[in-house]
Amino acid sequence: MPSYKNILFKSSDGISVLTINRPDKLNALNNATLKEIREAVQEVYDDKSIRALIITGNGEKAFAAGADIKEISELNELNGRKFSENGQEIFDLIENCHKPVIAAINGFALGGGFELALACHIRIASKNARLGLPEVSLGILPGYGGTQRLTFLIGKGKALEMMMTAEMIHADQAYRLGILNHLVETTDQLLPFTMNLIKKILKNAPLALGMVIESVNAATKIEINGFQTESNCFSNALKTKDFVEGMKAFMEKRTPDFTGD
Ligand code: COA
Repeated sequence: MPSYKNILFKSSDGISVLTINRPDKLNALNNATLKEIREAVQEVYDDKSIRALIITGNGEKAFAAGADIKEISELNELNGRKFSENGQEIFDLIENCHKPVIAAINGFALGGGFELALACHIRIASKNARLGLPEVSLGILPGYGGTQRLTFLIGKGKALEMMMTAEMIHADQAYRLGILNHLVETTDQLLPFTMNLIKKILKNAPLALGMVIESVNAATKIEINGFQTESNCFSNALKTKDFVEGMKAFMEKRTPDFTGD
């Protein structure tokens, strides 16, 4: 079991909570933090008892205020490509996880922090949250998949405006744009609300949930035929014990008892 310095990682009742824990640096994502996020997400992949993941930030102020600007300032053309590819790889791991991953956004979600939230399957924020991609104000651009994921989520014009103005938007505007699935009033309502949503999701068949994630993700990947992915997943779902249980429970007018097999 890895021990973490920059994140907190706890699991109970099948739900893991990953909390970015550098509040004095507004939870900025330095290399060490990203490495720990990768390891924790890998734990979620590997541990069958974990069924869902919540990602949040410690403190009232920030989810994550971006990649670490000090580390960025030392990059050059060569290691800059690696920097971007490394972040993309970790955020792809999150997006492609077959277990639901929800971002609980408790404050600033900027730059790489916003890109992290965009890689999650669902985003919920408290009203104090502010979101943005300020990279062009620093002479760079989003490098952890934000140019692609935000464009897919809200469309080219609005995504370009956010990226080109470099301005932060308030949570209610992000909600109206479709970036956020839900808004809660205060940060202390965030985790209970998110837990409730996850519990609703986890009533359903685990393997089918993974297949839904895989099929929906296929829509964003130009090299993959999403309709084919959906049919493959559909056919695979019919091989599961949970399919048999789901059908039987419906006929018998009872709640299904899914095992993830
Ligand atoms: N990287 C490294 N350190 C960061 C950081 C980042 N992305 N964002 C904040 N911090 C650090 C600050 O340097 C400061 O550290 P210090 O106390 O050692 O000086 C600490 O976090 C608190 O931030 P501060 O700027 O004092 O808080 P604030 O309330 O005045 O402003 C923000 C909040 C979010 C507006 C401001 O911190 C900011 O603009 N951060 C950078 C956002 C950004 O451009 N992100 C994209 C990076 S590609």
